Amino acid sequence: SLPERVTIWEVGPRDGLQNESALVPTATKVAFIRRLVAAGLPVVEATSFVHPTWVPQLADAAEVMAELGDEGRGMPVLVPNERGLDRALELGLEHVAIFGSATETFAQRNLNRGLDEQFAMFEPTVRRAREAGLDVRAYVSMCFGDPWEGDVPIPQVVEVGKRLFDLGASQLSLGDTIGVGTAGHVKELLQAFAAAGMTTDQLAVHFHDTYGQALANAYAALEEGITTFDASAGGLGGCPYAESATGNLATEDLVWMLNGLGIDNGVDLDALVGTSVWMAGELGRPSPSRVVTALA
Ligand code: HMG
Ligand code: MG
Repeated sequence: SLPERVTIWEVGPRDGLQNESALVPTATKVAFIRRLVAAGLPVVEATSFVHPTWVPQLADAAEVMAELGDEGRGMPVLVPNERGLDRALELGLEHVAIFGSATETFAQRNLNRGLDEQFAMFEPTVRRAREAGLDVRAYVSMCFGDPWEGDVPIPQVVEVGKRLFDLGASQLSLGDTIGVGTAGHVKELLQAFAAAGMTTDQLAVHFHDTYGQALANAYAALEEGITTFDASAGGLGGCPYAESATGNLATEDLVWMLNGLGIDNGVDLDALVGTSVWMAGELGRPSPSRVVTALA
């Protein structure tokens, strides 16, 4: 049987906006985050403390979090290294996420480090975050395929993912960065993580919708007992360092499916659609989400 309730981990302000060519004003980002919270999203990943020349779209991370103040303290933010962690600690933030790669090429492209070298960067970052009492999420990218390397063997994904998680994370999010995964592959990967000793509450899934498979993949993950789903309002998103990555699974599409299945998720769909329609206006292009298009 399927889970009775799930947690939607909203990544629109981070994964969504990191890939927009237009620079979104800080005040618009803050308003977007507040509207997502008001629509009932329990977790809103707010921004990234990465190198500002690597991701200029999120160079105002400190301003966004300072403006949110207490409201933003528990919101997760991406940090790749100790410098990023220090910037988050200065603001009193309580939840960070590291992001590793399951492949050599993407580690080089996204982190300027090799597959093995990335751990030397993450280890002290996670250790210090945990010592400071922070919660840490770990992402692993290219779990289902890599634009440069092609197929990525499941044992390699499990090894890297487990190693990242074991640094001290409370959850591992499995990223289909370029959206090539299909439902059978999702099941196989989740079963391999289960066989390696990870429980369903320690795992989240992070699907990009490049090939239109994200919703089917989410259903496959539900059938495997997963209860945390990453999604982005209106289907915004992509990774500037991954060729061919488009937006995430749209939160609205996910909520529509969950509501139909009677799975509790806490989101007010009308308020969320209203937010995505407003954001599409700010960005000057329509949302790619089918549910937003249908309900708007
Ligand atoms: P690097 O150039 O190797 O960094 O970049 P470095 O450690 O050699 O430091 C160079 C300089 O950068 C130093 O300054 C540092 O202080 C500074 P200097 O001493 O020369 O004046 N610096 C920083 N400044 C501000 N904030 C920082 C920071 N770090 C160093 N955090 C680095 C390495 C990891 C920083 C760089 O490669 C980077 O920022 N990468 C981030 C790329 C990124 O954000 N990608 C998108 C997110 S991942 C994603 O979207 C996938 C996901 O959604 C899941 C999925 O879909 O699969 C999560
Ligand atoms: Mg992503």
